Parts: sequence; C-alpha cells; structure tokens
Amino acid sequence: MSGKIIHRIAEVRSKLREVRALHKSIGFVPTMGYLHEGHLSLIRRARQDCDFVVISIFVNPLQFGVGEDYAEYPRDLSRDARLAFSNGCDLIFAPTVKEMYPQGFATFVEVGGLTEHLCGASRPGHFRGVTTVVTKFFNIITPDHTYFGQKDAQQALIIERMVTDLNLDLTVHILPTIREADGLAMSSRNTYLKQEERRAAPVLYRGLCAAQEKIEKGEREVENLINLITEIITSEPLAKIDYISIVDLDNLQPIQKITGKALIALAVRFGQTRLIDNIIVEV
Ligand code: PAJ
Repeated sequence: MSGKIIHRIAEVRSKLREVRALHKSIGFVPTMGYLHEGHLSLIRRARQDCDFVVISIFVNPLQFGVGEDYAEYPRDLSRDARLAFSNGCDLIFAPTVKEMYPQGFATFVEVGGLTEHLCGASRPGHFRGVTTVVTKFFNIITPDHTYFGQKDAQQALIIERMVTDLNLDLTVHILPTIREADGLAMSSRNTYLKQEERRAAPVLYRGLCAAQEKIEKGEREVENLINLITEIITSEPLAKIDYISIVDLDNLQPIQKITGKALIALAVRFGQTRLIDNIIVEV
C-alpha cells in the first residue's frame, strides 16, 4: 500500500503542481467515503485512464437536509485508505468541514431544471450542495478526467450539465452501477439496513427489471409500467415508496410514453434508510 492522505487544500495544490509539472494526467473520483466496490470500480477505471489518481473523501454537510443522516453517515478513513490505495489511488484528499467551508462561506453553484424532479423534489437543496462541493473540488484538484456512477443518475447528469455550462476543462465519465449478487445496488447507506430490511431491499432491482422486461415485450405506457413496479415493491411490506418515476434521459422531465431512451428511477425507504436505484431503458 502506498499513497498519501492530505487534509489541507494548500498542500493538495502544491502536490498537484508537482504532478502537473511532470505533464501527468490527473483523474479524480469524488466520494463521501465508506468505500465499496462501486467506488472502487471508479478508482480502477481512473487508474487505467490517468497517470495520477486523486479521490476525495468528504461527507459534505451542504448536501444533507435537516433531519437527514449527516451525523450518522458511516466514516472510516483508515479502512478507506487501505481500499483506495490497493485499487490504484495515489492521493486521498480528506478535508475538514472548516477547510471546505470556512466562516463567511457564501457562494453556491446551482444547476437549473434538472434538479426539480426525482431526488430534487424530495431533497430540496441537495443538488445545490453537490454541485457546490464538486465545483470546489474541481478547482482545487484541476483534474483532466472525473468519474461518477450511474447509480446516482440524476447527480451524474447534473454534473455533466454543469461542466458543459461552465466550460470546465475536464471530461466526465459515467460508469455502470455495481450491484450485490442479489441485485441490490451497492451503497454506503446499505450498512444502515437491519437484517430483514437487507433481505427485502433487492425488490427495488426486481421492480426495475420487471419493467424492462415489459418494455421488451412492447409496453410503452409509463402509467402501466409505474403501476407494475409499484405493485412489485409494495408486495414487500417493509418498503415505503418515496417516488417511482420514468423520465426523459436528457432533461429528466416526466414522460407519458417511452419513445427513445428513458430513465426509470426510484427512491424507497426501508425503516430510516432511503435507497435509490435506476436503470436506463431504450426502445
Ligand atoms: P458517494 O455516495 O460516496 O458516491 C461517490 C461516487 O460513487 C458517485 O459518483 C456515485 O454515483 C458512485 N457510486 C456509488 N455507488 C455506486 C455503485 N453501486 N456503482 C457505481 N458507482 C457508485 O455521490 C456522492 O458520494 C456525493 O454526492 C459526491 C459526488 C462525492 C459529492 O459530495
């Protein structure tokens, strides 16, 4: 295991100045830590593409709403460091909240339109927190390539939009969702699930797959598809649906009929834990 953990912005900048002076390309994977195979797949891809791989580990208070799980969010830097360094990461940037948001901090980055539906509706302010912190990371690290997971489809689209709109000089890569053997999308939040909730949670992916099969058999009506997924998920008494939506993949606006590429996205609660999942379908 090699690699370095840096907590200060000035120190990251000076290290990355050295890297740049050697004309090395920089790959960057932003995370909130408690790494799992989903994160590691992004790190390994960055390792393949780039000369120098940076990840950030920062549980960003700005993207958590009142009553959400900011305080409980799992944290384990030494475990994360072991996993990140053994999968090709060269540098972990793990700043404190004070380092990122010193007193007087007052500037936010907000992407319009795409943030209204899906998680934007049930978590007001969440995406503003994400885009603000990711912009700060991009400015601190100045990566050539950055890697996001399809697991957070809306987040990935919003970041792509922001990078285009603000002419940021980097390439965004969106990589597939990594799942457990039973289909549950990997997430740091899965650790919150009680045993019976964990057993119930694969119903999300089962619902998504059932919809995909129906589409393959010719179904195009969004209402029928949402009813089907709802039926499957509500058959699991521990599951409480937050939303199930089928939206246009480009603008995330709700659609009535599937005509091209669409995103089927859902958020469901199991007890205190809110899980999200999605698939892209195409006809
Ligand atoms: P976090 O939830 O830690 O996720 C970090 C990155 O890993 C995101 O791009 C996410 O989409 C990706 N990821 C998570 N689970 C995945 C899975 N099962 N398969 C593939 N990729 C997966 O997303 C965040 O952190 C934060 O919002 C952040 C972007 C770091 C800003 O604070």
